Parts: sequence; C-alpha cells; structure tokens
Amino acid sequence: MTDATRAGPVVTLDGPAGSGKSTTAREVARRLGFRHLDSGSFYRALTYGLLQAGIGPDRWTGLGRADLDAIGVGVEPSGEGFQVLLESRPLMDEIRSPEVTSLVSTLASLGPVREWLLAIQREAGKRGCLVADGRDMGTVVFPGAEVKVFLTADLLERTRRRLKEQGVTTPTDEQVSQEAARIRERDRDDSERKLSPLRRPEGALELDTTRLTFEQQVETILERVREVSTASAEDDRARE
Ligand code: C5P
Repeated sequence: MTDATRAGPVVTLDGPAGSGKSTTAREVARRLGFRHLDSGSFYRALTYGLLQAGIGPDRWTGLGRADLDAIGVGVEPSGEGFQVLLESRPLMDEIRSPEVTSLVSTLASLGPVREWLLAIQREAGKRGCLVADGRDMGTVVFPGAEVKVFLTADLLERTRRRLKEQGVTTPTDEQVSQEAARIRERDRDDSERKLSPLRRPEGALELDTTRLTFEQQVETILERVREVSTASAEDDRARE
C-alpha cells in the first residue's frame, strides 16, 4: 500500500558503476510522469564543492555537519528531476570530471556525509512519485519503496558503456583496461565500506542488463511498477 503522506509510489534502482541506473531511471520516471532523483549527483556535488573550497581528501575525515553546511551545496526540484547547486549556481558536467569521479567514493564512505545527504534525499523524495537511483536507495534511504530494482551488467559491458558516455566509441585495449580498473576499484570501495554498502535490497527485482536493450530494461521495470500498483489497488479495495 502507498504511504498516506505520499502522492504516489517510490521506485528505487541500485547497482554498481556503469550499470545504466541513471539513464534507465530517468526514462522510467519520464514515462511514469514521476521525478528522477540521481543520488550520485548529490555525492558528486559535495565532492566538487569541497575541492572548490580547497578542502582536500586529507581533511575529509574530520568534517562535521557545520562544515558540510558551510560548503553551500543545495538541491532543488528542476524539470523532471533535481538540480544540484553550489552557492545557488547549477552544477553540470564539472561534477563528472575524472578528479571528482576518483574521489567521490572516499567521501561517500564517511558517516557525517551520508547522514547529511540522507536528510536531503528523504526531503526530496517525501511526496513520492519518484524514481531514485544510487547505491543505497532501496536499503537505507527509501526502505519502504514500493518497487526495488537491482541493476547489474558484466564489467566489460559497463566499461564499454562508460567509455561511450565519454565519447569513446572505439576504445583501445589500454583504454578499456584502464577504465575497467577504475570501475572495479569504485565498486570495491562502494561494496566493502561499512556504512550503507552497495547491496541488493531484500525483495528487489534483479536485472542483469548485459544483453538487454535499453527499451527492454525500461519496459521490465515499468511492468513491475504496473504489477505492484495493481496488487496495491486490489488490496485497498479488499479493505474497503
Ligand atoms: O552513481 P554515480 O556514479 O554518480 O555515484 C558516484 C558515487 O557516489 C558512487 O561511486 C558512490 O561512492 C557514491 N554514492 C553512494 N550512494 C548513493 C549514490 C552514490 O555512496 N546512493
């Protein structure tokens, strides 16, 4: 049954780097008329903001709530999703730089950082009608989500997709092995950390997208949303 304080359900998509979570979540949200929450962009914005403030990774373990507040990172609803801001300025591609990508998992392993962002993510999602993607959406941030999905794909396929996103369509063997090593390292950091590690949420639909087309991925998730919505409507009717 849908939470009474929400206007509609929450759908979560978790999975490792390059599994296609964000693009899939954005399209599922668009077709449902829901908002898309890309939680990775929040972690990236905070990483970028700290670097801009001259606060390097050697000082991150000592950060508390007040220090994080002072960085000036914010989030606001925008279009079909949420826009991350630094001192009210929208952040775009700068949060996807190789420097931010290589440091973001270090920041994401820290308790005060996860607590700080937990509040922002829950506030963003409190009205429901949301498709949220990340690493701990179904396990920690929205444990009561109506639909949970765990997306995976072979490392090689994820590497190929990441390189394509960066505009590299015919990579050399060296480019493939370097990018695969970066992805493997980030997956290891995200899965082995103590706090909110990457896990398949209990009851989640596991979707290996290695051999699925984009349309098949989107349609499989929409089908699950329809099934759950129908079952929930039937439950509600039986209770009346
Ligand atoms: O999804 P994306 O690659 O943009 O995420 C960047 C990083 O942010 C991840 O590698 C992970 O360290 C962190 N993250 C997280 N929990 C989330 C989303 C992202 O720890 N829910």
